[in-house]
Amino acid sequence: MPSRPAVLVTRKLPDAVTKRLLVTYKARTNAEDNLYSAADLLAKAAGADALLPCPTDKLTAEVIDALPDSVRIISTFSVGHEHIDLDRARRRGIVVTNTPDVLTDATADIALLLILGAARRAHEGEAMVRQAGWGAWAPTGMLGIHVTGKRLGILGMGRIGQAVAQRARGFNMTIHYSNRRRLPAELEHGANYHASADEMLPNCDFLSINTPATPETYHFLDERRIGLLPDGAVVVNTARGTVVDDAALIAALKSGKLAAAGLDVFEGEPNINPAYRPLTNTFLLPHLGSATHETRNAMGFKCLDNLDAFFAGREPPDRVA
Ligand code: DGY
Repeated sequence: MPSRPAVLVTRKLPDAVTKRLLVTYKARTNAEDNLYSAADLLAKAAGADALLPCPTDKLTAEVIDALPDSVRIISTFSVGHEHIDLDRARRRGIVVTNTPDVLTDATADIALLLILGAARRAHEGEAMVRQAGWGAWAPTGMLGIHVTGKRLGILGMGRIGQAVAQRARGFNMTIHYSNRRRLPAELEHGANYHASADEMLPNCDFLSINTPATPETYHFLDERRIGLLPDGAVVVNTARGTVVDDAALIAALKSGKLAAAGLDVFEGEPNINPAYRPLTNTFLLPHLGSATHETRNAMGFKCLDNLDAFFAGREPPDRVA
């Protein structure tokens, strides 16, 4: 057991997290916040006992295979772990942990921001004010979609989906959800369960995507499923961009099949499909789901709690592999 384990931290972390990290670990930090290529990461990992990466680091099977034997744990600064080949990590005997729970509220808040922003044309209105394009108030000016009392479908009713539902109830929305398993009644709070997304989609004036990126959810919201939504529905995504088939969503936004979309995550981000940019019925954010001071500190502390447990010979609380 190394007395002060060496941890390769691939991105600049919040100050409070770095301060605590440095008390216990020999940390190789990245104050400039440069993005490491796979080759950089492997070179810097030489002799490290642990990695503390982010979703911007792609820990593919090849990268995991090339990690030095000294690396025994990967504590990712994220709840999502699709950027890490878990099977390969397991095969190499490397433990992997993530940061669940602490970003639930911040992410659900952004989902509501997307619902409201997309439906009420917030970005168009804001640009109008900033660019001095605001004429007189008009009875028919900048009309959007009413949110209160509408039906919200939630695809993936885990922690974040449930937090979105809780907030949406404050807008008197009727909640529908589809999930692999039905929630117990005390967690459902009267929400309508659908055993399949196909059954739920026709009931969604708004659709919130809250399901993780897996091979099964890749391009899940495709042309056929968009076709099942009511005409004029609004889609929001705070989960992962790969759940959406961008070409199908863009076509539906252009044709008017969908009224609007609010997106915080994108396939291939930050290099998003450029066809989103000129569409006025899109409300676009740069993956801000967990971006609050409190949440990012809490995510960092969770990474450290997992490392502390592991190096003390205990089971890390948030082990995913
Ligand atoms: C995560 O933790 O997976 C988030 O996407 C980062 O906000």
